[in-house]
Amino acid sequence: MNLLYSKDLKKDEILSLIERAERYLPVVCDRRKVSDAEGKMLATLFYEPSTRTRFSFEAAMLRLGGMVISNPHMEYTSSAKKGETLYDTGRVISRIADVIAMRHPEKGSVEELSKGTTVPVVNAGDGPSDHPTQGLLDLYTIYRSLGRLDNFTVAMVGDLKYGRVPHAQCELLSNFAGVDFIFVAPEALQMPGEIVKDLEGKGCKVTKTSDLASVMNECDVLALTRIQKERFENEEEYLKYKGVYVMTPELMDKAAPDMILMHPLPRVDEIEVAVDSDPRAKYFEQVENGVAMRMAVLADLLQL
Ligand code: NCD
Repeated sequence: MNLLYSKDLKKDEILSLIERAERYLPVVCDRRKVSDAEGKMLATLFYEPSTRTRFSFEAAMLRLGGMVISNPHMEYTSSAKKGETLYDTGRVISRIADVIAMRHPEKGSVEELSKGTTVPVVNAGDGPSDHPTQGLLDLYTIYRSLGRLDNFTVAMVGDLKYGRVPHAQCELLSNFAGVDFIFVAPEALQMPGEIVKDLEGKGCKVTKTSDLASVMNECDVLALTRIQKERFENEEEYLKYKGVYVMTPELMDKAAPDMILMHPLPRVDEIEVAVDSDPRAKYFEQVENGVAMRMAVLADLLQL
């Protein structure tokens, strides 16, 4: 069993992972560890930059009582440099570790590796495509803040074209009833048509705009993301959109007192530091939620 794509998770599985994450969150917050994964080993194969996601997976495995081997520079220092295929890398790592978390700049690459593996593989981000564990931790954050995952309005703001995080969020949230989506992006960075079509096909209400100020008071959850610089064809294209949305205390004043602001981080310039002290800003709390959720995912994949 792998976790390759958000669409592979259905409502019951999402809720059971959240239930499990709830049990692990005190372990994370009290800086303890359990022994659920004693003797099991996680390998993290990262072919793309990461701070949170890799540490989060590794911390999750260590707090489960397991072990970790890691290569955060697969693109430079692994046998991929010598021409090894992802399939072969998958076969080899399966003989060493019990579960694999992998990040790569190309869509479909984690699935490619999984064709050679005999142990579970988790997609920790495959290019602009998907990032299921980030989506899960975002749903967990919504659940913890709102107390529910249905009947609310989410505004997704930023680079909705290349952002794998909003793609994962849409896919996972489409399992729940009464979620209305507002997509806030410049026209050229709007949510891909197939995702919009899929949501509408499932009966979700979808609205698009490029005006952030106009949605501040319309949403229960505002999920902001960075303009994905590394996905643009050139610097000039990126510069057209850099700084297009910046969350400020003044904008936050327009939002409801119980609205929540999420961001997967890293932020570049899209949230002023002055917003951090607003109790509605959840992006640092998301970090602990992420470790707990990844504990739940690893435990589930390892059938613990
Ligand atoms: C995100 C990613 O890598 O897609 N970061 C993360 O996993 N926390 C978001 C981003 O890089 O913008």
